[in-house]
Amino acid sequence: MASFSFSGNFQLGVATAATQIEGGKMDSSWISWADDGHIKDNTSPERADDHYHLWREDTELLARMDIPIYRFGVEWARIEPEEGTFSEQAISHYLAELALLRAHGITPLVTLHHFTNPLWFEALGGFETQDNIPLFLRFVEHIVRSFGGLVNEYITINEPNVYAVNGFFFGDWPPGKRSFNRTVQVMSVLVSTHLQAYKLIHRIRSELGLAETKVGFANHLCIFVPANPKNPIHCITTSLMERFFQGSLSLAMTTGRCTWPLKCITHVVGTQFVDFHGVNYYARHAVSGFSDGFLLNVPKNDLGWEIYPSGIVEVAEKMYRIRPLPIYITENGTCDNQDLFRCRYLFDHLQAIAASPLPIKRYYHWCFLDNFEWLEGESARFGLVKVDYPTQTRTLKDSGRFYQEIIQNNGVTEEMYAHYVDRQAYPCIQRKDFAK
Ligand code: GCO
Repeated sequence: MASFSFSGNFQLGVATAATQIEGGKMDSSWISWADDGHIKDNTSPERADDHYHLWREDTELLARMDIPIYRFGVEWARIEPEEGTFSEQAISHYLAELALLRAHGITPLVTLHHFTNPLWFEALGGFETQDNIPLFLRFVEHIVRSFGGLVNEYITINEPNVYAVNGFFFGDWPPGKRSFNRTVQVMSVLVSTHLQAYKLIHRIRSELGLAETKVGFANHLCIFVPANPKNPIHCITTSLMERFFQGSLSLAMTTGRCTWPLKCITHVVGTQFVDFHGVNYYARHAVSGFSDGFLLNVPKNDLGWEIYPSGIVEVAEKMYRIRPLPIYITENGTCDNQDLFRCRYLFDHLQAIAASPLPIKRYYHWCFLDNFEWLEGESARFGLVKVDYPTQTRTLKDSGRFYQEIIQNNGVTEEMYAHYVDRQAYPCIQRKDFAK
């Protein structure tokens, strides 16, 4: 069957992150990390998509693409450049962007933390110590009070597991530490931060008389399989990776219940700390020992990540089993530098969602624009819209036109499949291993 349609009021949108699209010089952990030479193509978030200046054009482009929902982040280092000093100019900027989104009928979902910290916060130990949680909560309160009724939906923290594992276990992200104990400590502090932020946002908005409040977090979930299912070590480490990277964190962030290896840092009253499951899904990983790579002879994207479409509903099911709540795919996308297979990727993943009985209510494609892809810099392209970085020209890709038609048709018709998908095939790269 080369066509499908979505039931009910399923909504399709796009996602971005402040550090990855805004540009600008500021004292932040990722600009400092780029200045220290850690980015593979020697680019920096200082350039990115210059969205901080091009936000009007980009918002008009969202409207032309018929995008009804948009997930984006605010940059803490820009809003609070020094501890306790808030930039009213930055707040005014975001209020203007929110007002224009609303004027176009686009509903915002705002991410409060997406990997990047102000350098003053890093200098105090960042999320390694629970003593710093109030500093983030003060920022959250400033945003929620400033944004008022322009924003009803928040993501507290994007991918706490990726932030902790890359920055404190593998050490290739800031602050570049390599310690299991520090990783577990940071994950535990982030759980406590989220639980408190969830309660705080609801309390503030209730005091302000604002309804329809929805708060969650963006949970990076993978499908983990043993590199060799006949190898008992691979099977054991796959179970450990499942628990260490995502299982315990998903349970704790959702219910407040901490299991190994997490520590219960602070007791927060309640048993549910999300109003929806935010799920970020990209790939299936093959585990052999304490590193994960990818299987051989399988479809892969331009970063070598396995393309495994049915995984998107398998990971959604994991969250639904914890709490039967509405599910938002808060990120899904692929690195496809020439836009050769993104239409097939979209078709396969959205068809899996359309066929699932799970209450998956929203899908935010990663990403609206080609953007600064962390260690890969500008070399890895995830956008529905091409960005020519030297000129900052935006060009809608074929996949972007396809996505717009999916929104207009609430699904994919046979004609759309024939035009956009049929001729596309995934690469099948043989190289054994890729780090994410
Ligand atoms: C993540 C982040 C995004 C990435 C995207 C592609 O999952 O790492 O949320 O910032 O750019 O996922 O890697």
